[in-house]
Amino acid sequence: MVDMERRTALATASAAIAAATTGSAAAKTSGPSRDVKIDPNNLTDAQKKMLGIRFRKLDPESHLDFVTGFRRVLGRQGGSRASAEEVQRYLKSKGVSAGQDTDLSHEDSWNLMVQNGPYAAQLRLMCSIQSVMWDRASRALHADRHDLLAALEKSDVSGPGKLELDPDLEIPDTARHEIHQQPGGYCGDPLGGFVYHHAVTQGFRAGTADHDENHIEYTQAHAKPTDGMVNRILDIGCGTGQSTTPMKMRFPDAEVWGLEVGAPMIRYAHYRAAKMGLDVNFRHALAENTKFPDNHFDLVTDHLLFHEVAPDRIAMIVPEIFRILRPGGVFSHHDLLTEGHPTIQPSHTVPGKARLWETRRHNNYETHYLAYSQSDFPEQLRKAGFEVSFPPPTTGTRHVTATKPA
Ligand SMILES: C[S@@+](CC[C@H](N)C(=O)[O-])C[C@H]1O[C@@H](n2cnc3c(N)ncnc32)[C@H](O)[C@@H]1O
Repeated sequence: MVDMERRTALATASAAIAAATTGSAAAKTSGPSRDVKIDPNNLTDAQKKMLGIRFRKLDPESHLDFVTGFRRVLGRQGGSRASAEEVQRYLKSKGVSAGQDTDLSHEDSWNLMVQNGPYAAQLRLMCSIQSVMWDRASRALHADRHDLLAALEKSDVSGPGKLELDPDLEIPDTARHEIHQQPGGYCGDPLGGFVYHHAVTQGFRAGTADHDENHIEYTQAHAKPTDGMVNRILDIGCGTGQSTTPMKMRFPDAEVWGLEVGAPMIRYAHYRAAKMGLDVNFRHALAENTKFPDNHFDLVTDHLLFHEVAPDRIAMIVPEIFRILRPGGVFSHHDLLTEGHPTIQPSHTVPGKARLWETRRHNNYETHYLAYSQSDFPEQLRKAGFEVSFPPPTTGTRHVTATKPA
């Protein structure tokens, strides 16, 4: 066993651990489904062992620790009172209020903000440290390219869950993009799933998701149909499966699927779920055309998919979700803010608009984020036939619950 596999094996678990984590399998009944509560802040040792990941060597880990620390310092600096006062002083000198909504466009807000030296330096540092994060993670994993590709090939055909790959899948241009600056993006680097998971966990999420804690928190908060029946679940845009496997932990008796456009991502998702011993299935397909039958799922979920998708594609995905949900079934949406939420909307101030423009352009290359944030997503769901409600907000991102009328 190569070192990487050994370390991964240390950090993952057998089916026995998975069963210990989720409880023993029970026969499916016609009543409400078993729904296991998992507290992300009090994971058991077995759960941590199952969910943690490590690099093979300490060297890249230490580099990514540096990235994390650097981002924290920058974030603290940017969020400090002194920094806020500097922004206020600067904008006041330009005749603009930092706290009030502005008619300036996102681009003009950004252009105004970057004329301030400390602000511009902070953006530049954030952007550069992000490319260091990808570069270091990518180089470390590609040093083991041969072994990792062999491990993927082996796991492609192993269980307990299925992996359905589509070599002929037509990848939309928008999905080929090097989003977040990731080299090769979601589709272009065969080790993209390994790279994403290692880099994002250690770099972006900065100690808040070493064992999928973030993902467990919001998957625990997904709404379910009022009859409590959750026999089939689909997670669209499932990436490395971190938003999918917690749904199997929560609903151990359900048939759980993840669906994803990037083959490198979904192969890794399957590899990881199989290592965990979790019976989760993955389909390489477009959320626009899932190829599942009508009225099939009780629950469809997404996490951080839509802000990365072009508006014309969103217009195809929403009716597709409606089609595959059974009457009374629920779509639980969890993403960044849009218009149309009754209590919390995207910022319309100069600093807020500048931040969004930076994320869209220079820092994260999230080309469609601006259009998504300006759209009324809940209204789009209503127009497709859903009844929309808003559960209490959780940290950072927000749930929207869309129910297909019974
Ligand atoms: C930010 S990632 C989130 C991944 C995962 N849900 C999580 O929370 O870790 C968004 C994922 O959506 C996938 N994606 C984007 N457009 C898609 C589409 N049209 N159909 C299926 N997957 C898509 C991307 O490839 C990417 O893996």
